[in-house]
Amino acid sequence: MMLDLLITGGTVIPVDEEGSVYDPGLVAIKGQEILYVGPAGEGLPADWKARRVIKAENKLVLPGLVNGHTHAAMVLFRGYADDLVLQEWLENKIWPLESKLSAEAVYWGTLLAIGEMLLAGITAFADMYFFPDAIAQAVAEAGIRAAIAPGLIGVSPDAAVRLREAIGFCQEWNGAADGRITTMLGPHAPYTCSPEYLAQSLAAARDLEVGIHIHLAETETEIKQIKDQYGVSPIAYLCQQDLNNLHILAAHCVHLEEADIDLLAQNNIHVVHNPGSNLKLASGIAPLPQLLGAGVLVALGTDGAASNNNLDILEEARLAALIHKGYSGQPTVIPAAEALKMATANGAAALGLAETCGRLQAGMKADLIIVDREQPHLYPRFNPLSALIYSARSSDVDTVIVDGKIVVEGGELCTLDREKIMYMVESHAQKLLR
Ligand code: NI
Repeated sequence: MMLDLLITGGTVIPVDEEGSVYDPGLVAIKGQEILYVGPAGEGLPADWKARRVIKAENKLVLPGLVNGHTHAAMVLFRGYADDLVLQEWLENKIWPLESKLSAEAVYWGTLLAIGEMLLAGITAFADMYFFPDAIAQAVAEAGIRAAIAPGLIGVSPDAAVRLREAIGFCQEWNGAADGRITTMLGPHAPYTCSPEYLAQSLAAARDLEVGIHIHLAETETEIKQIKDQYGVSPIAYLCQQDLNNLHILAAHCVHLEEADIDLLAQNNIHVVHNPGSNLKLASGIAPLPQLLGAGVLVALGTDGAASNNNLDILEEARLAALIHKGYSGQPTVIPAAEALKMATANGAAALGLAETCGRLQAGMKADLIIVDREQPHLYPRFNPLSALIYSARSSDVDTVIVDGKIVVEGGELCTLDREKIMYMVESHAQKLLR
């Protein structure tokens, strides 16, 4: 058997149900897939040879991180409008600039975001934005994995046309780039989508066999507006729809009543927690321990870079682990293993890719990262999960592999021209201000 890649000598954290750690461990990759993960001691069959061996002594080997909710091209607005309340930020700052966006600007913005995410060990992301063809083009070229949802604003005058275009996008791109690209529909939020428009979007998603990506219960303003208008919470508003056979990714879910948490659990809605964005926009603190306690699957997201202001899931994992300890007064909530699971396996599940990536397991796609532990802030070498969640920095990521291909090596991008991308983003961002 000829392998394409063999990773030896590292501390392997597969993120499995048993909480295994193989130190040292082995990961064998053939083509796009993982063929073997396990302790080094057992060794591989004698006739297995590898075209390439990566020696990972004093490094951590783990599944790639997953960004469960972002608007990648919003890196174009990073640092443009900070320290504002959400509605003012959106209506007076972001929406006027977004109205001037072009496919070309979204393409370059998305490439910059992908470069930033790959360097931070993110191998897959869920995106909701405009000009989805430009997003898909960038994803195809960069070698990352993504679930792309065209953003749908039901209250806009061209909402029906946009839904038709989004359906066409899903038909064209779902499964493209060797399966690295999957698609969803992105009805933006309850306050921008009427029940009728939401019903049309959900029916289309069911026909296409794609998921739904929606913002839900993000701010108190939203809760009040939906209650005033429809007499129910945003969660109940969504759950009044027929959700049978639909995969739902719901970003935020910050303001919840007990009945809402039950509805999320009953309807198997995948929640994406965005602690950095929720803090920055003062949206509130999601009841994460309660959600997990009710059996809701929770992943982590950065949201757009205009409200974060970076795309760093390791940082979100640490924020999640710290905020909920402080907020609940219980240092035992969200231990390191839970935070890592949210950042990997749960993220993949939120994207509808639970059987594809997010864990290191034979038969799954080879999406994994190698983190350098030879750093002062990572000594001495006790618990590797603690090191990762409480001490590591995303800049410690050395190697990133997606779909069996090396896309970051020695902390450098292999598939993207970072100088050109930074230059193009700067010029497009300046153009939007004119
Ligand atoms: Ni968002």
